[in-house]
Amino acid sequence: MCGIVGYVGKKEALPILINGLRRLEYRGYDSAGIVVHSGDKALVVKSVGRIDHLHEKLKGHKISGSVGIAHTRWATHGGVSHENAHPHMDCSGQLILVHNGIIENYRELKKELSSKHSFKSETDTEVLAHLIESYYDGDLRKAVEKALSKVRGTYGLVAMHTQEPNKLVAARLGSPLAIGVGDNEYYIASDTSPMLAHTQQVIFLDDGEIAEVTDKHLQLYTLEDQRVYKQAEHIDWDEAQAEKQGYDHFMLKEIFDQPTVIQDAYRGRLDLENGTAHLGGFNMNEEQLRQINRIVLIACGTASYAAMVGKYAFERLAGIPTEVDVASEFRYRDTIIDEHTLVFAVSQSGETADTIAAVKEAKRKGGVVRGIVNVVGSTIARETDGGTYIHAGPELAVASTKAYTNMVTVLLLYAIQLGRLKRLTIATGERLVKGILEIPDKMKQVLAQSEQIKALAEKYKGYGDFFFLGRGINYPVALEGSLKLKEITYIHSEAYPGGEMKHGPIALLSGEFPVMAIVTKNQLYEKMLSNVEEVRARNAPVILVATEGDEQVKSLATDIMYVPSTMELLEPLINTIPLQLFAYHMAVILGRDVDRPRNLAKSVTVE
Ligand code: M6R
Repeated sequence: MCGIVGYVGKKEALPILINGLRRLEYRGYDSAGIVVHSGDKALVVKSVGRIDHLHEKLKGHKISGSVGIAHTRWATHGGVSHENAHPHMDCSGQLILVHNGIIENYRELKKELSSKHSFKSETDTEVLAHLIESYYDGDLRKAVEKALSKVRGTYGLVAMHTQEPNKLVAARLGSPLAIGVGDNEYYIASDTSPMLAHTQQVIFLDDGEIAEVTDKHLQLYTLEDQRVYKQAEHIDWDEAQAEKQGYDHFMLKEIFDQPTVIQDAYRGRLDLENGTAHLGGFNMNEEQLRQINRIVLIACGTASYAAMVGKYAFERLAGIPTEVDVASEFRYRDTIIDEHTLVFAVSQSGETADTIAAVKEAKRKGGVVRGIVNVVGSTIARETDGGTYIHAGPELAVASTKAYTNMVTVLLLYAIQLGRLKRLTIATGERLVKGILEIPDKMKQVLAQSEQIKALAEKYKGYGDFFFLGRGINYPVALEGSLKLKEITYIHSEAYPGGEMKHGPIALLSGEFPVMAIVTKNQLYEKMLSNVEEVRARNAPVILVATEGDEQVKSLATDIMYVPSTMELLEPLINTIPLQLFAYHMAVILGRDVDRPRNLAKSVTVE
């Protein structure tokens, strides 16, 4: 949560910072602020609301300078107000700071500082600004180091001081920070998206590191003042991938990206001849892999639904007992992990606080921990001892779509690879590989129905509650469809396995409670049809996701979204798409802020 941008170089900082904030707005969007060192002063402008408000407000100021920092906020400590917006300053107004994370001991620090310092906001960040002030004697990096030695909590921060006008100091513990390396210029940000227009050479700060950046040098240290030397990494993502490219919303673009980006997830990893997949990320030899006797998948939200698809695949193809654990529960349970347990952390951002904590816990217990991550260089990618990038490209809408698809794909590839070492026949392996190669065209067929799905959303826009039903491999699809609908339309919705309805939830059904059921032709088809009959008997409107050409379902449905058939294990790659489109169109029709729904942030970097 919260996005940070910093620039030091020779160019005008203001447009770089504003454009950078726009890239990071998905991380939080309740207030924003900016500071540019201009002449001998630092000019701070803040505003409640979106970056557009800040931009408007900036039009009334003359700001020129080539050093600055900026912040977009997702409130944790202190409400949404001008005072609580970042940047925060010390008493003198010379030390200015932006911060992402939580200073857990801010109350005690505030108490200690309050006799000599006056506070303007309710935030933990302002306490940090005053703490740094109390150590400042002309060397900003040293003062930040000393202050951070007193702090408990998490931070990605960037500080500047008017007495050292060409310098930024950045530090990280638990909240991500990357530094883009240009030609005598540096870009600092919470992720690489603000810097892609300027450079693809990036240094990722690790926990406990602090950077001193001027237009002439970048020096890295540990918090114990030891020099650290790192090479910049080349980032493949380019600026164009982070644009809407003519679509009305990032979410729609990302839904339509799926037939293309799924190919990036499997390219070079499929082996049709041997009916298998090759992912280097296991970092284990075949003997070690054969000894894996349990798999645990840890993730949150949409990533956890992708992980559920992985569970079905690992169990069916490799015969390995597999559990999915929501990371926020895993970290506080007495989970049983040993050296034969393979743990996958699944995350788009690679920065989800609960998933990171669960990774650390699984490692402490001796598990083999691997990452399935989208953002290159992110914390989970670095904390795990191997794993695979899903290559979905930048996903900027808060609601995850293409990252889900690519997570499912990579999990399927892992399951096929493990399966071939265990019990999967070459013939079934081949069919799966062929099936995956056909998915992009089948996805396009579903996407071509976008306008019909929009008409359906129009028809159902007046309903305040929805049910999503699925069984087997389509149960996670129902969960994902329901999450998409509620997070971007704010309509109440629930997802259940079809057979579970009659154990309670069916009491809710009436003509006012539409049910979206996934009834594609797989081994549970007949069972699902019976569940749909039960729904119809309660007069609930029924919208079906059904296999193309299935005439039988017509008599059961109020409306149908047809999808091409594929192998059962691959169905989530196709069946989720109409549900994404339904949620998207519904949100647009209801006038919601599709890409930035209320109360949410893309990366949940706090507990
Ligand atoms: O970055 P992650 O994949 O770890 O994020 C996990 C969830 O926060 C995320 O999937 C969330 O549920 C999305 N808003 C769903 O669309």
